[in-house]
Amino acid sequence: MKYISVAIDGPSGAGKSTLAKDIAAHLNYLYVDTGAIYRTIGYYVLCRKIDPACEEAVTAILPQVDIKMSYGEDGLQHMYLNGQDVTREIRLPEVSYYASCVSAHPPVRAFLLEMQRQLARENHVIMDGRDIGTVVLPDAQVKIYLTASPEARAYRRWRELEQRGTPQPYGTVLADIQARDYNDTNRSVAPLRQAEDAVRLDTTEMNFQQSRDALLAIICEKVDA
Ligand code: DC
Repeated sequence: MKYISVAIDGPSGAGKSTLAKDIAAHLNYLYVDTGAIYRTIGYYVLCRKIDPACEEAVTAILPQVDIKMSYGEDGLQHMYLNGQDVTREIRLPEVSYYASCVSAHPPVRAFLLEMQRQLARENHVIMDGRDIGTVVLPDAQVKIYLTASPEARAYRRWRELEQRGTPQPYGTVLADIQARDYNDTNRSVAPLRQAEDAVRLDTTEMNFQQSRDALLAIICEKVDA
């Protein structure tokens, strides 16, 4: 059977995961949040008190890391680190920074590549990340580059943190988004960039429903979904 792959890349806070999760449920595809996999390594590095910027130290711990994913009854993608469910822990704000740092190391990216490709070989997937259309699934039938202005992304994230009961000043959230944009686009290996054959969708002026409709229209035009 030929499986369909939809690759969605873009900067932090563009709404990739919320939109991709919703559309995957609608199409009955498997949603794969690849950021969660990098976050799992980032979390391990944080727990071990290793400098995430030190490639040698991070590479040295990779053989100790066993990452598994499963999909719960709740439809959530659960991440397991050496047998422990770390789905909640990997969302801690400090883990974002660690994930961004460790993801710049080529051995980390190589370590995770096959795991991501295997999922696409066995399922219809909507996979989101930074290098899915460019590196992980270069033959994906649909590639979308989802973006929005840094200010719009920071505002959405700020609002989400407020609603979750973990508020942070808007300026801090914006600075964090800008720092991650810088790291993700300037690393030497698999930097964030739009694949040549990706459709660009800028949601700065769109609400969730408009973004969802636009994304779904792009996918349905490419595949008979
Ligand atoms: O999507 P996210 O914010 O959960 O991702 C966390 C970090 O992982 C992000 O700073 C960049 C990195 N990442 C990556 O380098 N490649 C991917 N395919 C997904 C995420």
